[in-house]
Amino acid sequence: MTGPAVRVRKPRELKAARRRHHHQCWDHLTAAPLWPQHGANLGTLLRSCDAVGACLAVPKWSWVPEALRRGNTLPGKACVHWVHDPEGWLAQRRAEGVRVVGVELAEDATRLADVPMARQRTIAVLGHERRGIPPEVLDLLDEVVEIPMIGAGASLNVAVAGSLVLYKLAGFA
Ligand SMILES: C[S@@+](CC[C@H](N)C(=O)[O-])C[C@H]1O[C@@H](n2cnc3c(N)ncnc32)[C@H](O)[C@@H]1O
Repeated sequence: MTGPAVRVRKPRELKAARRRHHHQCWDHLTAAPLWPQHGANLGTLLRSCDAVGACLAVPKWSWVPEALRRGNTLPGKACVHWVHDPEGWLAQRRAEGVRVVGVELAEDATRLADVPMARQRTIAVLGHERRGIPPEVLDLLDEVVEIPMIGAGASLNVAVAGSLVLYKLAGFA
């Protein structure tokens, strides 16, 4: 028995269905890799942000603009927020009523499957590729989301973890 025929969308059909440029700043959902180590992960996260209508918040470090420029294969200007003082910025956004969600392997974290779509402005904070979210930032988190794993690896790539959580918060998955 054969299943229904799958017709893969053609590149020109995909192009016609997409925006011509990046979306404006909606300031609803923001991915925040605030202590990045590898530029390639920033480029990957930027594409995921574009796909779900999110913004990207990154530290104003010397190598970050070039890494984003290299990683940005999308047309137009992406919605990037430059952060000078990650801790201070998170505290300020929180005081403005933004929900701050940590994406981290942590005790008592919410499992990804139980994360509802974001109904208020939300920042998804991502950790350093090796050291994770700095301990002093943990008190600034309203909630922590963990992506369950059963493999041998200790953790996921930060851009993969961030993209999965963004899709969930955006209500696309
Ligand atoms: C490679 S992990 C950091 C490693 C880990 N925190 C440690 O200290 O060994 C980099 C970042 O990816 C995200 N991450 C990776 N796997 C994850 C998972 N299964 N659930 C939630 N976040 C994850 C977190 O933001 C984490 O800080």
